[in-house]
Amino acid sequence: MDPSSGNHHLSSRLKETTRIEGLFNQLAKHYDLINRVLSWGIDQRWRKKLSAQLIITSPNMKLLDIATGTGDQIISLCKTHAAINSAIGIDLSENMLNIGRKKVKQRNLSSIIQLRKGNATHLPFNNNTVDIVSCSFGLRNIDDLPLALSEIRRVLKPGGQLLILEFSLPKNKVIKGMYLGYFRYILPVLGNLFSSHPDAYTYLNRSVEQFPYGIVFADMLRDHQYTSVKVIPLSFGISTIYTAQKLKRD
Ligand SMILES: C[S@@+](CC[C@H](N)C(=O)[O-])C[C@H]1O[C@@H](n2cnc3c(N)ncnc32)[C@H](O)[C@@H]1O
Repeated sequence: MDPSSGNHHLSSRLKETTRIEGLFNQLAKHYDLINRVLSWGIDQRWRKKLSAQLIITSPNMKLLDIATGTGDQIISLCKTHAAINSAIGIDLSENMLNIGRKKVKQRNLSSIIQLRKGNATHLPFNNNTVDIVSCSFGLRNIDDLPLALSEIRRVLKPGGQLLILEFSLPKNKVIKGMYLGYFRYILPVLGNLFSSHPDAYTYLNRSVEQFPYGIVFADMLRDHQYTSVKVIPLSFGISTIYTAQKLKRD
């Protein structure tokens, strides 16, 4: 085996992480507006549905929101559940976080929510310390998904809950065909136009089509030792909620 191959893998991962950080730093200013327009406002409803999946197990729950971006999911969870009394959101992009920090302040949630720069593949938390991990529209962007899933399991307490919201593709062939038409040809043109980034939304399209979804992703969660895995398709399957738990005796 070539002894330099490990170094090569590390340096290409670092390059990819830097590329993603740069992409979201550039997109940040228009990210919320583009989300609302391109999803016709449905994304906020999906986030509320994800928040509603949380099972309250104690009056003092600690939440970690991964790839928190401009904070919409962490805010939705904290507004829905008074039992969450400490919430940390981490993201690679400082520009996304800065917009999130303003929103947290405007909603008077600064005593509960903290947003910090951090990488999902190297979580700055001790083992077994978090009750809930959430991630909305973020897993797809993480350069080493298996590593992130292991990290999440490491920091979750035994019995802790994982809540994921991610794009997926519809099962119905006709709807899938129409959706892919919008997704491949209309959305990238609109997105690239609004975002002033030459190919951000071409990347979005590619990342969604390549991401494992439905039972394939559910099996991936089981392979990473998560249990009670549930798959809930939303809006004909263009998005999907996944919920899972870390084993109670791990
Ligand atoms: C599409 S945005 C989703 C933001 C937010 N969760 C939401 O629901 O709108 C994806 C976010 O993932 C972040 N991201 C990508 N890779 C990451 C990583 N390895 N660690 C932390 N954040 C990451 C990006 O910086 C970006 O803000």
